[in-house]
Amino acid sequence: MKKYLITGCAGFIGSNFVYYMLKKYDDILLVNLDKLTYAGNLENLKGVEGDSRHVFVQGDICDRELVTSLFEKYDFDYVINFAAESHVDRSITNPEIFVETNVLGTVNLLQCTKNAWLKDGVWAEGKKYVQVSTDEVYGSLGDEGYFMETTPLCPHSPYSSSKASADMFVMAFHDTYGMPVNITRCSNNYGPYQFPEKLIPLMINNVKNHKKLPVYGDGMNVRDWLYVEDHCKAIDMVTEGGRDGEVYNVGGHNERPNIFIVKTIIAQLHDRLKDDGISEDLIQYVADRLGHDRRYGIDPTKIKDELGWYPETTFEVGIVKTIDWYLENQEWMQRVTSGDYMKYYEEMYKNKA
Ligand code: NAD
Ligand code: DAU
Repeated sequence: MKKYLITGCAGFIGSNFVYYMLKKYDDILLVNLDKLTYAGNLENLKGVEGDSRHVFVQGDICDRELVTSLFEKYDFDYVINFAAESHVDRSITNPEIFVETNVLGTVNLLQCTKNAWLKDGVWAEGKKYVQVSTDEVYGSLGDEGYFMETTPLCPHSPYSSSKASADMFVMAFHDTYGMPVNITRCSNNYGPYQFPEKLIPLMINNVKNHKKLPVYGDGMNVRDWLYVEDHCKAIDMVTEGGRDGEVYNVGGHNERPNIFIVKTIIAQLHDRLKDDGISEDLIQYVADRLGHDRRYGIDPTKIKDELGWYPETTFEVGIVKTIDWYLENQEWMQRVTSGDYMKYYEEMYKNKA
């Protein structure tokens, strides 16, 4: 039985990963270490309650004693680090926590992993550390070209700088100590359980409630959207088959300007809910995000050629599934948008409009 330490899996991608893995494998153990920040929610894991293959531990990846005790208890085969502060806008207003979790937390995990797997100068067999990173570490593209694994790191935001820094520590542990590692760098994910501060769930929620739709700048920034289940599949494939010390970019060749995404959501919800209060009049162009990267686009050739990964869900199918999920899970939406989140959100758009 393979034993995984997975971190940050009460959040968006991590909770989808738990469902993906438990559906695919009978004989695994997933130990899920999550601090339960505003973005982590045990509601996301309701569907695996009572499944003995999933163990939830509330705690911080920065906690040396706790992480060490988990290694002693479970003797993990794999560590997959999803845990992070993940929202670019929040990193602009409060960069310090991004350094704490994304950089120092990653270094702590690497140290604990090394202490557990490296004995008398010999690495235990069959182990691997996987760092879930982002295409944002490469910076911003102009109209042409794609991010390749060989593209130099050139992060712009405090978020992407913290992720790039973490990636460099992961490679440092590989190059210095010989730690078995992979890094995945994925484009924008969408799908169920995404916290509604991110573009797609935020717009679905606001359209549904006839609230203004804050589009940053001219709305022509481009993101390469990937359905979250395809990302989960890629992480599993890299964990199982990625070559030691390699980086794999994960993206769908599915680039869309933000305004296209917003108008698609408006049109879908208008038709679905037969609601004439839903129209493009809800769109409100607001001040641009500081340092806003213009375009991300991934060339996924390496992961396709080496591991046979490809995105199975087209945007047309994925966006319908996603809208369906949020419409069917409005109680989830209400719960995660109650309390502090609404204060943060209202404050932010008061400043931006
Ligand atoms: P998320 O914000 O939805 O979830 C992050 C999770 O990490 C939460 O459950 C939170 O409680 C937990 N966490 C935060 N700080 C922690 C700490 N110190 N210790 C333990 N747990 C902690 O993020 P997400 O969108 O699911 O992203 C997951 C990972 O994937 C991140 O590393 C992110 O950088 C990366 N990524 C995300 C995307 C995307 O489009 N969402 C794309 C590429 C890469
Ligand atoms: O590319 C991968 C990254 O994608 C991940 O590493 C990050 O964790 C994840 O948050 C995401 O970052 P983005 O900044 O691209 O995602 P976000 O959903 O915040 O914004 C997507 C685009 O939409 C971006 O160009 C900013 C714009 N936007 C966003 C919001 C929240 C708006 O125009 N209005 C909004 O209200």
